[in-house]
Amino acid sequence: MPKHITEADLALLAFAREVRPRAYAPYSGFRVGAAVFAGGEIFQGVNAENAAYGSTVCAERAAALAAITAGHRDFDAVAVIGDSESPCVPCGACRQFLAEFNPAMRVIMSGRTDEIDVRRLDELLPDAFVRGYLDQDDGEDE
Ligand code: THU
Repeated sequence: MPKHITEADLALLAFAREVRPRAYAPYSGFRVGAAVFAGGEIFQGVNAENAAYGSTVCAERAAALAAITAGHRDFDAVAVIGDSESPCVPCGACRQFLAEFNPAMRVIMSGRTDEIDVRRLDELLPDAFVRGYLDQDDGEDE
């Protein structure tokens, strides 16, 4: 196990791996499982595709919404596992969605091999657009 990967990372990844078979991915065939660690609890999510392709929901956002619904916004980490050869990274929209809650959260990623990658979210999404930008609005249009 690479030194920077902790037991907690592996435990969270196991929850993502466990839920992945429940993904609904009839169009891409690419099943993704995710698990968010927030408020000392674990919340799982899977991707759910749709005949109107653009209505698809990613696993990371599904897991994040489960945490939010349970009242937790203090995300410490997210684990994601996909069907890919190399560790599956969160898509751009998921990076932005997650950055709202903690740009410094740990992101644990894996694919169909034993390879695991761990990064901070702000490494994957530098200079995220966050709430502070909205506070800089002077309230004037044009
Ligand atoms: N997908 C996720 O669930 N998370 C990601 O980070 C990458 C993409 C899903 C969306 C879609 O159902 C399938 O993977 C292929 O893009």
